[in-house]
Amino acid sequence: MNTIISPSILSADFANLERDIKKVENFVPWLHIDVMDGHFVPNITIGPCVVKSIRKITNLFLDTHLMIENPTDYIDVFIDAGSDLITFHYEAARKKTIETIEKIKQKKVKAGLSIKPKTKVDEIKEYINLVDLVLIMTVEPGFGGQKFIEECADKIQEVKKYSKNENLIIQVDGGINNLTAKICKDLGCNCFVAGNYIYKADNIEQAIQDITF
Ligand code: DX5
Ligand code: ZN
Repeated sequence: MNTIISPSILSADFANLERDIKKVENFVPWLHIDVMDGHFVPNITIGPCVVKSIRKITNLFLDTHLMIENPTDYIDVFIDAGSDLITFHYEAARKKTIETIEKIKQKKVKAGLSIKPKTKVDEIKEYINLVDLVLIMTVEPGFGGQKFIEECADKIQEVKKYSKNENLIIQVDGGINNLTAKICKDLGCNCFVAGNYIYKADNIEQAIQDITF
């Protein structure tokens, strides 16, 4: 599978969101949208109305990363707003994980399951073959610009071990740059979220090329 790059608009200028989406649009297939509620993580960001506005100005595949409590209750609004993929956190869904995956799939969009750095792959092994994507957080979720936690990358191989799906997308998010992306790629990762690395680059096209393997 070709590598998928998903620039995180958390590092964009929210007063110039359209301009900043256009900066990456020709070089990537996906756009990563970080939704935070101030409960699951100590930060508040984007709601469905913003996703709806983004949907109107781009054809990029909208990769929506829900870092919120009770994700099950918000699946419909984020899909109706135009998301193409909904990734939610296992730590926020727990016993409702299957119900949440089914709710997403019923609406014919892709389903992703994410784990925070301290959550073990063993805890989600029974769900790996029910989703399209597994997101391994390589920083504590909540903020852009943090340092990559290298031990988290070992989870890539564990996810692969449990997966029976050769098309499974294994995504990493947090502290991704040309060096850390290479580490993850060598372990079998095929989808990279990058915020600061892309948006703070002098040459965005080159920065994206350097993490496209
Ligand atoms: C963090 C978010 C990330 C964030 C990554 O909780 O999920 O998507 O934007 O930012 P960088 O790439 O700057 O670490
Ligand atoms: Zn994210």
